[in-house]
Amino acid sequence: MTSASGIPEFDAIAPGYDVSRGGTVRAAGFAEQLAPLLDPARPVLDIGVGTGIVAAELTARGHVVYGIDLSSGMLARALDRLGPRVAVADACRLPVRTASVSQAVSTWLLHTGPDHGRVFTEVTRALRPGGRYLVIPAGGTRPTDDVGVVMGELEDRLDPGRTRQDGPWTLAPIAEARGLVYRGTASERPTTFRVSPRATADSLAGGLFRGAWPVTGEGTRLVDEARERLVALPDPDVPRVRETSDFVMVFEKP
Ligand SMILES: C[S@@+](CC[C@H](N)C(=O)[O-])C[C@H]1O[C@@H](n2cnc3c(N)ncnc32)[C@H](O)[C@@H]1O
Repeated sequence: MTSASGIPEFDAIAPGYDVSRGGTVRAAGFAEQLAPLLDPARPVLDIGVGTGIVAAELTARGHVVYGIDLSSGMLARALDRLGPRVAVADACRLPVRTASVSQAVSTWLLHTGPDHGRVFTEVTRALRPGGRYLVIPAGGTRPTDDVGVVMGELEDRLDPGRTRQDGPWTLAPIAEARGLVYRGTASERPTTFRVSPRATADSLAGGLFRGAWPVTGEGTRLVDEARERLVALPDPDVPRVRETSDFVMVFEKP
């Protein structure tokens, strides 16, 4: 059984995934954040490796990276990038022996739907004592510009139970209950980008949420309402300077 609800959606968006999510600029930034926290002498397991775009940047920095992912569409690209070091597998059932992994990473995995408790139980099983799990959440700090306010409210309304929120406040208690120690955040990286309300509304129409986060029924209405709010903002074609900050959460097996 897969605990992820969005795998067919990831198969569907795989061809355009890299470009629509910041391309190699995002991937290189994530690799720069992760690399100082990784031991280059030991292999890295990338859980939810996707198209392998971040793993490839880690490889370029001297790391040997293996990857697993449930979406064969995403993995097809990872296979091109990483060769036969990738496999179709569930983050909740890792295809590795107990206590065999020294270091694992996940970037933008835990907001997509896998059961957080099951993922952390599996990671705890897989890690060696002293091994670390590094997580870059999708929910870095939220931009506070007018586009960010609309998007933040949309996320909260689509996910009232916060099951897709992947910050320390959500993940640390779950990880600690499964036997990992939360060591805090590291490698904070402020990012500034420019996007207009209308471009954001177009992204929503094109599947920004529908891809990573299946939206149906009432959710579709909420997304449509958010799109209307975005284009009704003053000067909807003028890009806003948006600020957010990505960081790495460090979990360790005692
Ligand atoms: C937003 S993408 C991130 C991909 C990559 N880490 C990156 O930063 O570009 C999330 C990935 O997690 C995968 N995924 C979701 N649930 C999963 C699960 N239970 N097991 C393995 N992979 C999963 C999806 O197929 C998708 O490729």
